[in-house]
Order: sequence, then structure tokens, then C-alpha cells
Amino acid sequence: MIVRPRRLRTTPALRRLVAETRIHPAQLVLPVFVADGLDAPRPISSLPGVVQHTVDSLVAEARRAVEAGLGGIMLFGVPLDADKDAVGSVGSAPDGILNRGLAAVADAVGDDIVVMADTCLDEFTDHGHCGVLDGRGRVDNDATNERYVELAVSQARAGAHLVGPSGMMDGQVAAIRDGLDAAGFSDTGILAYSAKYASAFYGPFREAVNSALSGDRRTYQQDPANRREGVREADLDELEGADLLMVKPAGYYLDVLADVAARSSVPVAAYQVSGEYAMVCAAAERGWINRDAALAESVTAILRAGADIVLTYAALELADAANGARR
Ligand code: PBG
Repeated sequence: MIVRPRRLRTTPALRRLVAETRIHPAQLVLPVFVADGLDAPRPISSLPGVVQHTVDSLVAEARRAVEAGLGGIMLFGVPLDADKDAVGSVGSAPDGILNRGLAAVADAVGDDIVVMADTCLDEFTDHGHCGVLDGRGRVDNDATNERYVELAVSQARAGAHLVGPSGMMDGQVAAIRDGLDAAGFSDTGILAYSAKYASAFYGPFREAVNSALSGDRRTYQQDPANRREGVREADLDELEGADLLMVKPAGYYLDVLADVAARSSVPVAAYQVSGEYAMVCAAAERGWINRDAALAESVTAILRAGADIVLTYAALELADAANGARR
């Protein structure tokens, strides 16, 4: 026998030396929820360890993210049900919960971490869709883009470094780029949810944002069956001026992620979504799986497939592990 690949697996030091992929805190982005009308943070039962924040507890979490060396923090807003309407007005209101949260975080952490915002209507509409509806109840693409521009400009004004259009409307990136530039925010970047699939793994997120949706998002989010289409969507977003692309969900879409990463000339992010995270938590609670190891392995696999950046609810604990390992 001449070739013995096991030789490089002999000791922890050798394995560490030859590891092709490492989790670094600077690549990780923590998704967070800020909710209106709370006196204290409220646990989300379907997402163990994740809460709906008050503005104050959100700021504390942002400081923890900076301390851990995370690359970014992605904010989602949860308004009062009474404030939801057909066009999601409270989303772009300067005193709406998301923009208040953004302003508080931007004020507290400045440029020490990249502050991002979900740029979508679903949390703010009374019907729960990501867009505005036409007379027949269908999501109206172009009217929705006009609302996305208003959302994005309000988020830039509140202090977001990156806006994250996640509604899968055609032309949303180009519309937002034009709108941001026209409003004087040419330095505000766009992290485009490019290949976003209509996934069953968003289930726990719907509880996290008190979603009003009945039905599904299959007329705008992609069919999980389609790989080529994901690449097409990513190419279009790059042409429209996206500064970063995203594939979502992550772990079940590593083929799409690898395709996009191989051809993109901008950085590529992947979102380990609520269901991917919650399944690991649930199995670990039953003692069926090792939580830390499974989360680390799942994020390593996402990086190995080509992601430059990973959004994950486990960002802080993974960063702590990485920081501990480095000491
Ligand atoms: C839409 C949005 C969703 C998620 C992120 N942005 C929900 C959806 O598309 O239904 C899901 C994130 C997750 O499941 O962790 N604003």
C-alpha cells in the first residue's frame, strides 16, 4: 500500500492543520427579532434560545454580537397585529418597530458590525403575503416593488448598512438600487435573497414573527424542484446590482449554493433557516443528537459548499466555540 489518507487524520493537530473549512465568527450573521409592545423579551417556543426582543434587549444582543466578533446582525420586525394593514405601512414608518430597532442598534454599535434589515412586507401586512395584492387577491409584482423601495429607503435612513429584499419579486433589486440612489443612499448595499425557495423549513419563523399568512408563497418563492432556476435568479440579481447574493434555505440547497458560488463575482451568503435550526434543537432535546456537534457540522457543510457568509440562529454559540478554540 502506498497511499494512506488516514495518516493525515492521526492527531487533532494534524486534522486541524489540513482542515479545508473553518467557521470564523466574521462570516456569521445573527438573525434577530424585535417586537412592538413587549415589556420583556418573549421566548419563541418553536426556536429554542431565540426570543422576540424589546428594543433594549435587542441592543444588548447587538453588543453581544459585536463582542463575539460576528460579521453581521439581521433584523426582523414584529409589529402589533392592530398595526398591520394591506400594504404593510408600519414597515416603512420611521417609528415602526423595525426602523426603531435599526436606529437603536445603529446608534449602539455604529460600524462595529454590519447592520442588516429584512426588506419585506410579510411581517407587516394583515394578509401575511410578502407583497401588496391586486383586485383578485394576487401578489402584484410592480406595485410591491414600489413598497420595497419605500421600505429600503426608510431602513437606510434608520441606519441599515445592508438591506435584504426577501420577497422574490421580479426586478426588486434594480428598483431598490434606483430608489436608494435617488434618496442619497448610494453607499447602502443590497444583500439579495436571490434563490429563495418556497420551503416547509420556514415553519418556526412564522411563529417568530406572528405571521398572518394563510396559504403559501408559491407564486413568488421558487419551487424546491428547480436548480437551474435558482442560478438564473442569482444571475439576475447580480446584473441588477446586488452587492451580495443569498441562497435560502441553506442545508437542503447545497447544490444550488455551490452552483451560485462557482459563478458569482460577488460574495454569496446562505441562510440556515428556522426549521433547519429547530430540528437540531428538537432532536438534541430528546437526546437523539449532539446539538453543538450537529450545528457545527451543518454550518461547516454550508461553508464547504461555497458560502462566504452564513446566517444562522446559532451564530453566537458557534462564534463562542470558535473563539474558545482559538485561545
Ligand atoms: C420573509 C422571510 C421569511 C424568512 C426570512 N425572511 C419567511 C418566509 O419567506 O416565509 C424565513 C427565515 C427562517 O425560516 O428562518 N420576510
